[in-house]
Amino acid sequence: MIRFFRATNFRCLESAELTLSADFNLIYGANASGKTSLLEAIAYLGRGKSFRGASTADLINHGKDEFLLFGEVQSHARVCNVGARNSRNGLEVRVDGDSEGGAAALADALPLQVIDPDVHNLVSGGPELRRRFLDWVAFHVEHEHLLAWRKFRRALKQRNAALKARATPATIRSWNVEFEVLAEALDGSRRRVLEVTRESLTRFGQKLLGTELRFEYQRGWNKEKSLGEALEEGLPRDQQLGATQHGPHRADLKISYDERQARKLVSRGQQKLLASAMVLAATETAQTALERPLLLLLDDPAAELDAGSLARLMTAVSELGCQVVATSLEPSALTPPPGAALFHVEQGKLTVIEAPDNTPA
Ligand SMILES: Nc1ncnc2c1ncn2[C@@H]1O[C@H](COP(=O)(O)OP(=O)(O)O)[C@@H](O)[C@H]1O
Ligand SMILES: [Mg+2]
Repeated sequence: MIRFFRATNFRCLESAELTLSADFNLIYGANASGKTSLLEAIAYLGRGKSFRGASTADLINHGKDEFLLFGEVQSHARVCNVGARNSRNGLEVRVDGDSEGGAAALADALPLQVIDPDVHNLVSGGPELRRRFLDWVAFHVEHEHLLAWRKFRRALKQRNAALKARATPATIRSWNVEFEVLAEALDGSRRRVLEVTRESLTRFGQKLLGTELRFEYQRGWNKEKSLGEALEEGLPRDQQLGATQHGPHRADLKISYDERQARKLVSRGQQKLLASAMVLAATETAQTALERPLLLLLDDPAAELDAGSLARLMTAVSELGCQVVATSLEPSALTPPPGAALFHVEQGKLTVIEAPDNTPA
């Protein structure tokens, strides 16, 4: 939960600060006024990267050398100061004065999820976003996950480097043992996490789409075989391509909807609802594990949704009990609950319309 936020020289926001409501915050303004930039800045403080995939050079206010972000984040009874600075020298992170932790420290301090107009990619896009979806939950639910994931990435890199360098089969096999152990660990935590999340996924699917969603984890190698066997059989092809074709880096989450494959859903609006159900389920699961309300950023939730769908989404969001920062063109497009904070943004400048009345002391 973020109580106070300040962005300096981030995109069009030269200096923007706001005291947030613990419940609902609405930022409204015309096109290109800076609404998404503000959410992107808040998200950057919890991820160390842009949810729009922008580079540092794109994010720094034109003509400036760096941007600065600062937040007071509350977790249980503790308030922690979180800062991020990015410039040509790279990302610098500070969590309560400690600059060692990097982006993972930001994610620990300010866990958040985003629903933006691109959220449908979680359903219609490639498997990487779905792997990241599972890994995000795993990161918050299982403490060892990040370390296992990092070690696996390293083992994969080393095996691929050996393949590219045309190392002998014996050398490549010597990398397999560690690769397999780490792959199984990653695979196991993703499976457990999907089981923990499944009930929420089903419930939010019912709420938002009125139908049963099914999720099946595909681990990234042949179901009938051990990873060792798959690697052995795949060795000639791996050598040909210079990259490992089997393992959890090729995993996917198969989603089906009314017996159909969700990727083939034609309506963008339905894809958005389905993806939103997934994001809400992930948020709920992490929130339960961490025993604290998380932050949910909703960028233009009204986009692509009819009035009924938008109302179902906003009801599901409010039942989640997380902290929300939402944007819209007009303040009336969403119906903020009583006590919500309301901000207007115009050419990168924020004005408080309605200050939060429930910020904890
Ligand atoms: N690095 C930057 N420096 C200054 N302005 C920028 C930068 N990057 C983007 N902008 C401008 O910021 C404005 C606000 O963009 P955005 O936050 O996406 O608007 P909104 O979501 O309100 O429609 C746009 O006019 C864009 O051109
Ligand atoms: Mg926008």
